[in-house]
Amino acid sequence: MSFTIDFAEGIKPSVRSDLSNGLHFSLHDKSKYILPKEASEGENKRSIQNRPVETPILTINQYLYGGHLWDFWLAHHPHYGKVVLKVINTFNHPCWDPNLDDYVPYKDIIKEATREESFYLGPLKELQETVVPKYFGLYSSGKTDRYLAILLEYGGQSIGAGYVELHKDWKKKIYEAYKQIHLKGVCHFDLGGQHILVNDHQEIRLVSFRRSNKLDVKKRQDVLRILEEVYALRLRYGGKSEKKLKYNTLSPDYWSQLPDPQAFKEHLDECANRVVRLPPEVVAYN
Ligand SMILES: Nc1ncnc2c1ncn2[C@@H]1O[C@H](COP(=O)(O)OP(=O)(O)O)[C@@H](O)[C@H]1O
Ligand SMILES: [Mg+2]
Repeated sequence: MSFTIDFAEGIKPSVRSDLSNGLHFSLHDKSKYILPKEASEGENKRSIQNRPVETPILTINQYLYGGHLWDFWLAHHPHYGKVVLKVINTFNHPCWDPNLDDYVPYKDIIKEATREESFYLGPLKELQETVVPKYFGLYSSGKTDRYLAILLEYGGQSIGAGYVELHKDWKKKIYEAYKQIHLKGVCHFDLGGQHILVNDHQEIRLVSFRRSNKLDVKKRQDVLRILEEVYALRLRYGGKSEKKLKYNTLSPDYWSQLPDPQAFKEHLDECANRVVRLPPEVVAYN
């Protein structure tokens, strides 16, 4: 599992990550990515060994984005199709200066990459290609991980970090996508339109699990934390109409895996019906 990069005509190789034509990447020894079964189905070990080894060429077509650490390039892979190459030159990256707040030490970069991988190959595994992009592995190039790269399915255009007015059908799609990751116990912790992508088939893909946490949908506290994110999301995209949202009106799917879903729902009902009486001086002041 490896690839060699080749820049399409007219595309400047450099930018921050300092990539060059012919750079060869192979699967990182810390990556737990394994090729899907189908790729080797029907073949025995001997025929795999005898298969001519040819390194796929990853053709880079466009510079997409310079992130906090990683650069994002749009590319074409002969087997995976349209992909995003998320890449960093660990010897010369944007957060290299120990005197600045955003400093990221060299040893933490691989940790960030394997952490992200652990989401795609862990709780989000079954959501690949439906809610999150398909994950194609973590790679390195050069001695001591000079370059690190992650290959992901191209998830589409982001809806943008700024204020957006969305049709109710789109809000529904976005709420549903987050619900899927939440039900897998993943709290995103970095809500924002830049992480909500829409692909050519008008499907949502959620990205960026750098700040995310794996929670336990069988634990009350964790479910409450997830409900907070559901609320924040609805407020952000639903605006005023969601301001009065009560947790107990959300789908019972969120708490169905708790040991006592009924008791939890009663707790939510109680909170929803609680009338907060403010002291008269506070009421007068407001
Ligand atoms: N799989 C992908 N397909 C398309 N665009 C992507 C993909 N992954 C990331 N991007 C784009 O790159 C941007 C940065 O990605 P993100 O993971 O948020 O990096 P950072 O942590 O540096 O902000 C995203 O906001 C999105 O626009
Ligand atoms: Mg981001």
